[in-house]
Amino acid sequence: MELQELRRDLERLRERALADFAAAPDLAALDALDVAYLGKKGELTVVLRGIGALPPEDRPQVGAVVNAVRSAIEAALVERRAILGTAALESRLGSEAVDVTTPGRRPPRGSRHPIVETAREISRIFGQFGFVDYEGPEVEDDLTNFQLLNIPPDHPARDLWDTLYVDIEGYLLRTHTSPGQIRVMHAERPPIRALLPGRCFRYEAIDASHQTEFFQVEGLMIDEGTTLGDLRGLLDQFAAAMFGRDKRTRFRPGYYPFTEPSVAFDVECVVCGGVGCPACSRTGWMTILGAGMVHPVVLQSGGLDPERYQGFAFGMGVERISNLRHAVNDLRYYLEDDLRFLEQF
Ligand code: PHE
Repeated sequence: MELQELRRDLERLRERALADFAAAPDLAALDALDVAYLGKKGELTVVLRGIGALPPEDRPQVGAVVNAVRSAIEAALVERRAILGTAALESRLGSEAVDVTTPGRRPPRGSRHPIVETAREISRIFGQFGFVDYEGPEVEDDLTNFQLLNIPPDHPARDLWDTLYVDIEGYLLRTHTSPGQIRVMHAERPPIRALLPGRCFRYEAIDASHQTEFFQVEGLMIDEGTTLGDLRGLLDQFAAAMFGRDKRTRFRPGYYPFTEPSVAFDVECVVCGGVGCPACSRTGWMTILGAGMVHPVVLQSGGLDPERYQGFAFGMGVERISNLRHAVNDLRYYLEDDLRFLEQF
């Protein structure tokens, strides 16, 4: 009789457990039910412990029933846990959904430094006339920076360049890109059409128009029968392309030890159009470069016969050109790395 009762109780326990599991709304509730039925003090565990009090002949039968009920409950738990787990995952996926079609965050994009951009524009314009870019070293030897350019040691013309010397005897930071002329003459045979953009260095008191570091672009053309007229024609084309077709230009006499004759090349002031204003010191003109016919001594330095070859050279400050293009009035902006300035280009 008692056996029958126990059996019935266990069946009821099983049904109740299964109903409870089915009603558990989430995994936490299911875990609580797990403990309530199968834990150390769980309902089924208590029944199991009670078996010891039964007469020995009844124990196997009851044991079999308890085990069957236990298996059924455990299987139901596993099943319900899987269902609730999937539901929980799905709801999480739903709330944390990533829209893979959203455009990505744009990484900040840099821009070309105005000096580089201007130097490239200069190269592009002269490139249309067949000029090719070359490079020379920033640490140059005295021989190439001065002596081979017809500036002997102790010659007063050295005063034109306040030179920064380095700790190695006979070397300095190039004061201009003109030593590149010598290097190109040694590397190439005429006809030569070379452009030499690069950084130069001078010992200067820094202000709005003086820096210890600045950029130049050197030009060199060497061929048979090259004339000052060719130089003028080329520079006029350059000025027209860079500053506009309507701008007048002029040559003024100048002096450089490595050119003869030497000239300064002026363009009508881009600010006032030639009337005269503070930007052009009220002259109406702006000097944009120095130039001249390559001195015979320099041709010889480059291993060329001055009886056969003639050439012209010019050198311009890139900052100067950039100032005119972008209406910048202080050289110091170019080296300060201030993004508020640089982002404008
Ligand atoms: N090298 C000269 C300077 O730095 C510019 C120049 C170059 C002049 C070539 C004439 C010919 O001032």
